[in-house]
Parts: sequence; C-alpha cells; structure tokens
Amino acid sequence: MRSLIAYLSYSGNTKEVAEIIAEQARSDGMTAEMHRIGIDPPIDASEYDYIFLGTFTWDMGRTPDEVKDFVLEVGYKPEHVAVFGTGDTQFGGDKLFCRAVDKLTTFYHSQWPGLKIEQSPRGSQEQVVEKWVEGVLHDVKILA
Ligand SMILES: Cc1cc2nc3c(=O)[nH]c(=O)nc-3n(C[C@H](O)[C@H](O)[C@H](O)COP(=O)(O)O)c2cc1C
Repeated sequence: MRSLIAYLSYSGNTKEVAEIIAEQARSDGMTAEMHRIGIDPPIDASEYDYIFLGTFTWDMGRTPDEVKDFVLEVGYKPEHVAVFGTGDTQFGGDKLFCRAVDKLTTFYHSQWPGLKIEQSPRGSQEQVVEKWVEGVLHDVKILA
C-alpha cells in the first residue's frame, strides 16, 4: 500500500502531525511519502492508494491558497483522502477552529472524520493523532 502525506505548515505544528502519521504508517508496514505543499514538485495522485492531506486554518476559517492550489493541481477527487489539520481556538472559537479541515473533508467526501489538533500535537494530543491514524489504517487494510 502506498500512501502520500501532503501537508502545508508555516510554523511547524501541521508538520509535526504529518511526521507522527508517517512514523505510524511506516511502522505498520505501509509506504508513506511526504509531500510539502507549495515546495515539492507536483505529484501524480493516482500513484497512491490513499492520501493524508494536512493544513492549518487561518484568516477567519479560511483554507490557505497553497492548499487550494494543491487541490487544483491534483485535478480530481481521489477516492481515499483522510484530512488532518491544526488550528487555534483563540481565533474565533469552536466555530472557526480548523475550518479548513471541515471544508476539505466535505469536498473529498472523506470516509474519515477530519483530525483537528490545537497547535502542536506533542503531549497529550499525540494519542489523539495515533488513535485517528489507527482508525484510518484499519479501514485502508480492509480496502486492500
Ligand atoms: C493570522 C492568523 C489567523 C488564524 N486563524 C485561524 C482560524 O481562523 N482558525 C483556526 O483554527 N486557527 C487559526 N490560526 C491558528 C493556526 O492555524 C495555528 O497556529 C496552526 O497550528 C498553524 O499551523 P502551522 O504551525 O503548521 O503553520 C490563525 C493563525 C494566524 C497567525
């Protein structure tokens, strides 16, 4: 099984989540390639069995432009996309918290609930990430 972990991160929080996902997927015997949105050359999404897509949220609940460009670059809606992200409830409370995750989850008709992490995942939230990844990998194996 080949997976892609595509993410956008300015200050490192979303990157930390991406790294936890990669570690876990690899220790579970999956191939996990990292893709830094807006930095790495375009990818061919059809080469992957499933995609983890990660982003932060900003500007009153908006999805960053780089992520919108990535969505356009992929050019179609791959079947298995699991969405994760980081945010901060100080910017508009629960209503705007990780809104980009909600939007992308809906857009890709994802079969998994979006993972929303407050700032850095290190510490108690690490278990939340691991449990979510466990759920996705479990379903992916059934699909295989
Ligand atoms: C100007 C600005 C606006 C933000 N707006 C939101 C927001 O609307 N919703 C949210 O959940 N987080 C918001 N955030 C918080 C970031 O999404 C959060 O810090 C995130 O973890 C950054 O990800 P990164 O470290 O991967 O770059 C905002 C941050 C900044 C600097």
